[in-house]
Amino acid sequence: MAITYDPFQQEAIRLIDEGHSLLVCAPTGTGKTVIAETVIARAMNRGEEVIYTAPIKALSNQKYRDFREQWGERIGIVTGDVSINANAPILIMTTEIYRNSLFENPERLKRIRWIIFDEIHYLDDPERGTVWEEAILFSPTHVQLLGLSATVPNIRELARWIQTVHGHPIEIVEEKRRVVPLRFHFQCQGTIFSSTEELFREGYRGKNRWPPVWRLPGRQAGIPHGHVPSSLRIHPNREERLIEELGRRDRLPCLYFAFSRRRVEELAWQFSRHTFIQGEERKELEKLYEELLDRYGIGEERSAVELRELMGRGIAYHHAGMLPTLKEVVERLFTSRLIKLIFTTETFALGINMPARSVVFDRPTKRFEHGVRALRRREFQQMAGRAGRRGLDEAGYVYLRLQPYDLEHQEVVDLLEGESEPVTSQFNADYATILNLYRLSGDRWIEAYPKSFHAYQAPSHQRKLRQTLLRHKLQILQELNYVNRGTFTPKGEFASGLYGYELMLGELYGNGVLTRLDSISLNTLLAALVYEGRRGQPRPPLNRIAQSLRDRCEEVLRAIRYHEAKLHILPRTRPPHFNLSKEVEAWTKGTPFARLEKISQTDPGELVRVFRMVIQLLREIRFAHGTPQELKETALRAEAAINRDQVDAERQLRTP
Ligand SMILES: Nc1ncnc2c1ncn2[C@@H]1O[C@H](COP(=O)(O)OP(=O)(O)OP(=O)(O)O)[C@@H](O)[C@H]1O
Ligand SMILES: [Mg+2]
Repeated sequence: MAITYDPFQQEAIRLIDEGHSLLVCAPTGTGKTVIAETVIARAMNRGEEVIYTAPIKALSNQKYRDFREQWGERIGIVTGDVSINANAPILIMTTEIYRNSLFENPERLKRIRWIIFDEIHYLDDPERGTVWEEAILFSPTHVQLLGLSATVPNIRELARWIQTVHGHPIEIVEEKRRVVPLRFHFQCQGTIFSSTEELFREGYRGKNRWPPVWRLPGRQAGIPHGHVPSSLRIHPNREERLIEELGRRDRLPCLYFAFSRRRVEELAWQFSRHTFIQGEERKELEKLYEELLDRYGIGEERSAVELRELMGRGIAYHHAGMLPTLKEVVERLFTSRLIKLIFTTETFALGINMPARSVVFDRPTKRFEHGVRALRRREFQQMAGRAGRRGLDEAGYVYLRLQPYDLEHQEVVDLLEGESEPVTSQFNADYATILNLYRLSGDRWIEAYPKSFHAYQAPSHQRKLRQTLLRHKLQILQELNYVNRGTFTPKGEFASGLYGYELMLGELYGNGVLTRLDSISLNTLLAALVYEGRRGQPRPPLNRIAQSLRDRCEEVLRAIRYHEAKLHILPRTRPPHFNLSKEVEAWTKGTPFARLEKISQTDPGELVRVFRMVIQLLREIRFAHGTPQELKETALRAEAAINRDQVDAERQLRTP
């Protein structure tokens, strides 16, 4: 189907044809992808090569499937755990892999003409943002850049910085309007309001006018109703009431965002008494579901069986604890428009094209590491933006569910209408990046810093602090003998390819532990490094081998942390968590996945995620400079054992 391009798309295409680099900034669902597609098509016509990077695997996978339909063998994908057609002229990558390849495979980049960064505003992610910044900073200057961004207020600042780094002008195309307008509603105290005015007029008090003690979760229940003035009573705010309204007003399909896996599933089951789909549609959905389960070979999976019951009612859920293949089945069915009500965590919001007529927010807050916080405006706007499908809906409907003590009045208004937060640099090169910079430019490596967005943006005292931090990291690398009088030791060579885990693995390599491991122990160790344990999680009982591995890790960690504390380095190297040792060992030994699920307390999606990260690390170990032959072979065996069946991401991608 041919579409007529919007003016901002036309302008972007004109600028591309004139040979400019470009930043495109437009709201969610506006149509930034066609601009990336234009770049790809032009490059193909001229026999040039393109790299397309995306922040999450669901997004790179979706792009791979979409592009493959058009480009067939000319498309390839390389993420941490997948490598299909790695020499293809159109290569999809995670931003991490692209950044690493800048150091490790500069030859390959000579042929590249364009680099596309989808969701480039990820640059301000506290944990991963530095990777985007490094990727831009170290991209060769012959490469043209296309950045696609959600609405950010300081896009000009970002563009000016990129320009100073690359020396070429970079144009900006900005679209502020949404094609399908959004209508905001609220559900509070059991009533639905259609504007902020109505909400505030009808007695929404807000955080500051609510007695503090009542804000504590669970307290309301303890207060006898008779003693509470009516304006301070809490009334039930039933989800059923809201969904019933959506059904009655023909506002399904609905994307319902909740902020924990457990809540997502509970909600879905809460609605399992209702049916949102009938007759032919229902048959079609059930048939498609079975077909897809079959294709992915997960028809017998417990979670797939459970979900079947909901599917028959037009309901589904989606979160990171699910098997990746099952998540993909749900995504595909949602795109086919047969699912009417989907409960999901926020990962569904990012970039994947999954629009609905309505979006519901369960709460205006979300949990994070240190407690609960209000949603950021950009997070809210990206999720809300999923409402309203181009060509299908004249408006998108957004419903925010609130307790009267959740947010201040102004906070509610800002969430809806406020400018989204500016992108701020999170530049903080890890040890491996510093090693690579040191390899490239010796003592002049620190000159990379003044070119960073951080140096461009931050006030001078912060610049000094950051530069000191980076120097201290090199100092640790010298004190721990990764670099000695300006040259790399074997340990330094090895660690420079192991982004994020370089010191733990470097030390275990240096003291000879790593090279003595068999494939099971190697996988156990790597899983412990990548697994992010929860605070207060009890230490699991371990077998003798895992226990001695943990002891060795703790020794090494103490030494690393001693140096980090001395030099005030933050964040510190993370401790390993051996909580999944039993599962890793069983899986490496060939246990079937269904059996694994029985012996494990951990969500299947979480297991697969950790195993896939282990695969990524195994590959990094195999390709690191100076890995001894024996260790390479162990890593290869370890990978063959762990990368199979449900865990094998390539198999999932090759499934049509
Ligand atoms: N000019 C157009 N006319 C009609 N439909 C369009 C047009 N441009 C894009 N679309 C459709 O709009 C939908 C959203 O497009 P796209 O995924 O590119 O949005 P996006 O800007 O990348 O959003 P996100 O911020 O979620 O990444 C797609 O279904 C696409 O086919
Ligand atoms: Mg997009």
